[in-house]
Amino acid sequence: MNVSDLRGILAYIPQFREKVFVIAIDGAIAASENFPNLVLDLAVLRSVAIKVVLVHGIAHQLKQLSLLLHTDLSDTTGIGITDQKTHELSLIASSKVTFQILEALSASDLRACATNAIIAHPFGIVSGVDYQLTGRINKIDVPFIEYLLQKNIIPVIGPIGFDGEGKSYRINSDAVAQCMAEALHAEKLIYLTTYPGILDNEGNLIRELDVQAAQEFHKNFSKSQPEQLRSKLEHAIHACKNGVNRVHIIDGRMDEALLSEIFSNTGIGTMIYANQYESIRPARKKDIGAILKLIQEPIESDEILPRKAVDIARDLQSYYVFELDKQIVGCMAVYPYPKTSQAELACLSVAKSHENQGIGRKMIHYAEKLASQQGFKQLFLLSTRAYVYFMQKGGFKEADPSILPLERKIKYEKTGRNSKVLYKPLQ
Ligand SMILES: CC(C)(COP(=O)(O)OP(=O)(O)OC[C@H]1O[C@@H](n2cnc3c(N)ncnc32)[C@H](O)[C@@H]1OP(=O)(O)O)[C@@H](O)C(=O)NCCC(=O)NCCS
Repeated sequence: MNVSDLRGILAYIPQFREKVFVIAIDGAIAASENFPNLVLDLAVLRSVAIKVVLVHGIAHQLKQLSLLLHTDLSDTTGIGITDQKTHELSLIASSKVTFQILEALSASDLRACATNAIIAHPFGIVSGVDYQLTGRINKIDVPFIEYLLQKNIIPVIGPIGFDGEGKSYRINSDAVAQCMAEALHAEKLIYLTTYPGILDNEGNLIRELDVQAAQEFHKNFSKSQPEQLRSKLEHAIHACKNGVNRVHIIDGRMDEALLSEIFSNTGIGTMIYANQYESIRPARKKDIGAILKLIQEPIESDEILPRKAVDIARDLQSYYVFELDKQIVGCMAVYPYPKTSQAELACLSVAKSHENQGIGRKMIHYAEKLASQQGFKQLFLLSTRAYVYFMQKGGFKEADPSILPLERKIKYEKTGRNSKVLYKPLQ
């Protein structure tokens, strides 16, 4: 590594400090020559205050055990039927990989701990087939994992779940990693596997897919593609839909794969990312009450121009809301001025309970995207008290009121609010 690499890494630190990364290591990667290098990379992540949770698979070790013992396995993935014999071998394989990871982490002076944080129940009988000792995840013991992270201990989690009666079940490790990332609101979920990433039908590496494109791709996923990748893509889509912003699928056999993927713009594998605008939608009539509630306080403190239900109903097609868990937590209006190719961003408000989570910025970006797609050349807004926010966080610049479309300028002068006029050119 040279100095510029180090500088590159340092640039990401404010963004990632104290964030949780769930790293899922296929059994074959834990057995690969590159594994010691990977552990050094984990040490780098820890040294820049990234909280690491390790999940591992065991398929490779299970297959080796079955060859060694001349025993047939009922399943190697944790998805099919796990009979008693296969389960016993799974426990041996899981202990082996866990200890291998603990040993390697010890060699890098990293404290770690094997856990029983996956609470599971039997997968049960489906369509008449008894899955025996295959389990399904009931929940993750989040306080336990968070406690370990708080104490700078890396939790190491194998593909085995536990119930309250002292029984254990075999679970698919991709699913464990996905549930863990969702439960911990992880910044990233990273699958380290023996493939370079997701390949298109011509065998070219796909660098990025947003969650919708990933879903489309998964639907048409060619039968010739390896099952491991299909599984990872499926779990990546679930994770992105359930709050994990980014999931990476990378080749864990490559030296510095982990660092290159995390600390560079281009990465080396495939990144699947959540659609950050998914929560924004056009307002409907039934949202008017929620919008009024959101803007009541800013109106009282002169941050937003007063408007009533009838005003909102009249301009409803210009309003957008940010919805989380069926609750409206943000709103804005984007008014068109076609004659001058300008659009106005107005009435932006975020619920107090949801401030400082980037919702305001997402709505600003959405307004820009929307106005630009509709062919407008400039987005402007008027602000009395939040103008610093729009300038610092939204990249707006102050302008003279003369830039306003005529009808807006007349209204501006009439209100006497003396708002600052801000604008942003659109591409
Ligand atoms: C202004 C507002 C939309 C910001 O929404 P938000 O979702 O909390 O903002 P984000 O999460 O995108 O950004 C938060 C950042 O902006 C900063 N910020 C928030 N309000 C600010 C303001 N009025 N002036 C300067 N900075 C501000 C926060 O300190 C935080 O900074 P950090 O990232 O450095 O920690 C929200 O506070 C709000 O609804 N205010 C009342 C209504 C209003 O004034 N609307 C503007 C009408 S024109």
